[in-house]
Amino acid sequence: MTQHDRLLIIDFGSQVTQLIARRLRELNVYCEIHPYQNVTDAFLADFAPKAVVFSGGPDSVTRAGSPRPPASVYDIGVPILGICYGQQVMMQDLGGKVEAGESHTAEFGRAWVTPGAARIDLLNGWFMDGSGREQVWMSHGDHVSEIAPGFEVYGTSPGAPFAITADLSRRFFAVQFHPEVHHTPNGKTLYENFIRLAGFKGDWTMGAYRDEAIARIRDQVGDAHVICGLSGGVDSSVTAILLHEAIGDQLTCVFVDHGLLRLHEAEEVVTMFRDHYNIKLIHADESDLFLNELDGISDPETKRKTIGRLFIDVFQKHADTIEGAAFLAQGTLYPDVIESVSFSGGPSVTIKSHHNVGGLPEKMGLKLVEPLRELFKDEVRALGHELGLPASFIGRHPFPGPGLAIRCPGEITREKLDILRKADAIYIDQIRKHGLYDEIWQAFVAILPVRTVGVMGDGRTYDYACALRAVTSVDGMTADYYPFSHDFLGETATRIINEVKGINRVTYDITSKPPGTIEWE
Ligand code: XMP
Repeated sequence: MTQHDRLLIIDFGSQVTQLIARRLRELNVYCEIHPYQNVTDAFLADFAPKAVVFSGGPDSVTRAGSPRPPASVYDIGVPILGICYGQQVMMQDLGGKVEAGESHTAEFGRAWVTPGAARIDLLNGWFMDGSGREQVWMSHGDHVSEIAPGFEVYGTSPGAPFAITADLSRRFFAVQFHPEVHHTPNGKTLYENFIRLAGFKGDWTMGAYRDEAIARIRDQVGDAHVICGLSGGVDSSVTAILLHEAIGDQLTCVFVDHGLLRLHEAEEVVTMFRDHYNIKLIHADESDLFLNELDGISDPETKRKTIGRLFIDVFQKHADTIEGAAFLAQGTLYPDVIESVSFSGGPSVTIKSHHNVGGLPEKMGLKLVEPLRELFKDEVRALGHELGLPASFIGRHPFPGPGLAIRCPGEITREKLDILRKADAIYIDQIRKHGLYDEIWQAFVAILPVRTVGVMGDGRTYDYACALRAVTSVDGMTADYYPFSHDFLGETATRIINEVKGINRVTYDITSKPPGTIEWE
């Protein structure tokens, strides 16, 4: 367990629990999210948090059997911040009252809080803009109707007379709104005040993490050998460089080129890791194998499954040539390991079979090294920066494991892939030239399985149509199309048609997610 001051977030199932952790990490506080069921007295004693946050949640505290923290959490002498459902839990547990939702007290969306009579440190920096109120984001049906003994009110909103309450002697704070979301513009200040009064040193930085992670890797691996699958994406790149700093030549990376990469991508990855970082790298050029197997397949799920199966076989084949390998490194991130109430439970359908190598370690008899397990994506980027990874690598748009296969609806041919690569390179070049790359979460071209008639010069053309895609997003779960100017779109379409033989029509995809997905397949 980390040596840093720790904050515990008890998760009651809110959709935005992860945002609490992100806000706190941005403030250099180490925190972990744990579902309420796992937070027992013994867990609390072992975790020894310096402060606790109760998340929101969808249940009603008025329902018998609804989620609760262990009673001992109120006795360990650390500050607690309860949010929404977390506030209601705290009030009910400590002797106040909560009433089930009635339409006139429910609040969803934007609301304004006005201050109570006294000021408290938790609200330093609040109510300062002259309007005398703060915008907050509410999402509650139930409401607190009587606060617990020892608490006072420090802020109210039209639907929540107890919007901000606190028992200063015990350092218990409870708010009805969600300070972690974007729509509570001053929410970060509230968290900052909370951790300051809880005495956090703010010592969670990527500089410190880098040294600790290196020490831990050395400790775990000893003098054994480690294999790391490299895709060229940020997560696997940072994993590889961190491992290389820790264990040098005991690391071998395997880069599987499935023939579905972007223009010059394979060379860039190989040059960067082999020549620049001097990391032992197997460049497995298996494009013939993948493209031959994919020949004639047009069903998206069959494509994905074929690629996934081959990838594992190929990776294993090359990894087997590395003598003395005992560990497999993976760039697993914290969001993948959070056992959050909101992410488990509930039926979900498979929209796409994601490309992953989950079963590999057992199959190969290898142990896992996952040095990024505690980090969010933005922290991985900061760590990459600490490790000297070029900014152009750190800021790269995500690229899916199945690569261009899922940007080529219908049958995949080498001809179509070549056309797609050229068009994609021009599109990205345009985006960079216009200074838009970092504003966009992901941008790419999809080549469509349709030919259209055009006229160039005096001749008729009968070539492929393509679609440009560009979206904004925070996590890839939801996304909106990017509002390019018409000038940009026109200029880009002209360049693609003039410079890429084989495309005579360019369209722009303006579908958000949902209902669309980011990739076409
Ligand atoms: P969709 O298309 O589902 O994509 O909206 C969401 C994000 O995930 C990426 N993506 C993948 N990434 N393996 C990956 O590593 C995959 O199989 C895969 N499929 C989609 C996609 O590029 C987007 O960023």
